[in-house]
Amino acid sequence: MKVKPNFMKTSLYSKLVLTFFAVILISFIFLALTLSAWFRTYYYKQKKQAMLSQAPVFIDLYEKLSYGSIKPEEFLSYLSSLDTYLNSKIWIINQYKIVYGVSNAKEDGELLSTQISNPDVDLVLKGNIVAGEGMFAERFKKPMYTVMFPLVINNQIAGAAIMSTPMTGIETELYRIYSFIWLAALIAVVVSTFIIYYFSQSILIKPLYEINKTAREISDGEFEKRVNITSKDEIGQLAESFNYMADTLQNLENMRRDFIANISHELRSPITTIRGFIQGILDGTIPKDKHSYYLSIVLDESKRLTRLISDVLDLSRLESGEFSLRMGVFDINELIRIIIIKFEKQIESKKLNADVLLAGEFLYAYGDKDRIGQVITNLLDNAIKFTGEGGKISVSTKIEGKKVIVSVGDSGTGIPEDELKLIWDRFHMVDKSRTKKKGTGLGLSIARQIINQHNEKIWVESKEGVGSTFSFTLKAEQNI
Ligand SMILES: Nc1ncnc2c1ncn2[C@@H]1O[C@H](COP(=O)(O)OP(=O)(O)OP(=O)(O)O)[C@@H](O)[C@H]1O
Ligand SMILES: [Mg+2]
Repeated sequence: MKVKPNFMKTSLYSKLVLTFFAVILISFIFLALTLSAWFRTYYYKQKKQAMLSQAPVFIDLYEKLSYGSIKPEEFLSYLSSLDTYLNSKIWIINQYKIVYGVSNAKEDGELLSTQISNPDVDLVLKGNIVAGEGMFAERFKKPMYTVMFPLVINNQIAGAAIMSTPMTGIETELYRIYSFIWLAALIAVVVSTFIIYYFSQSILIKPLYEINKTAREISDGEFEKRVNITSKDEIGQLAESFNYMADTLQNLENMRRDFIANISHELRSPITTIRGFIQGILDGTIPKDKHSYYLSIVLDESKRLTRLISDVLDLSRLESGEFSLRMGVFDINELIRIIIIKFEKQIESKKLNADVLLAGEFLYAYGDKDRIGQVITNLLDNAIKFTGEGGKISVSTKIEGKKVIVSVGDSGTGIPEDELKLIWDRFHMVDKSRTKKKGTGLGLSIARQIINQHNEKIWVESKEGVGSTFSFTLKAEQNI
């Protein structure tokens, strides 16, 4: 199956970019709002300060007017030039709120000698400075910023100056700031898009694509494929776990192949023998007087086949966990005695010296009696099989703490050190030619599976040429 890198690239990539966009956008909107609010306050503060710094000029003019050193017309023309200079409309009122002077006689001439009634003006005449937007809005056509301050002559409030400046200047400034912020945001978005693209490609998209591709290849049967990512981050860890999983899968696959190869091999040889001999009997190649001899071989081989099939079935059921143990308390010493009796013929025919050392008369253990019997039978069968004529075998039980230890020993061929771990594998036989096909290599695998299911231990001590001792533990039951 083909992987579509583009789909993954676009979807993951677009999600990443969208997220970053959203983050950048929100940050910039927040920044723009805070900055413009701050700028507005700062701007008005500066404006107010600048307007207030003109106060001495007005006080001086007003003083001169009150003392008659300048005429009202001169006063008005001074105000008019200040209007141009400061870009502000100026009104001067006396302490009774009567307008004494306006800077723009054309527009505000009708205000002269009228009284202004405004609560803010009252505040100013009490000595306060008042500033703000939208004052006298009914007179102005455009939004204005107004600053009012008292005119103090000889420590007395003699009047007030009202200065209003159009806000268009401020708005233009603010727009300039806004556009600067948005330009910065745009540049940041473009630059970060490139950065995100580069990093998401090399850190995320490409490694993920590779893992995805390898997963598909493995599922298509290419078990040897691995991901080549060496980074130490989470993606690196994912790749490592992935490779570990692939190793396990490959091992399983190899085991499965070996198992099938072994089982077909093991099935083929008895079937070939049976078929060959029966054919020989039928077509007369084998003389009549030899029939019973060959038929007994055929019988042995068919028994071997039956045993092999039941062993394989046992093992697969044990391995898949389908098998449930019938746990109970039983006398292990008695079980061993019964099994030894079954092997008596073989022990005698090989002239083996059998040592049986059982702890006490009864020894109660907890487990599945039939299955434990199977384990002991397998171990004893091996001990007899791999010990030469006149050799020694031994079976013993003992108690250690809360455990019963059962050991089956022999003075047989022993097992080479490098084989000790392998003998528990299915179909593993140390030397196939030496055993002359007396077994299939399943006995120990089954024994180990049974003991594992009991949550107990099984182990071997062996020296080549000296002998082997197989032991396993069981839970001891003393309160019987
Ligand atoms: N007591 C022993 N002495 C020497 N080698 C042993 C002994 N027990 C097991 N082995 C080695 O371990 C291998 C595996 O044993 P296992 O019981 O699994 O298989 P098997 O006896 O060959 O066949 P099966 O038990 O299926 O009839 C044996 O083929 C043998 O090489
Ligand atoms: Mg065996």
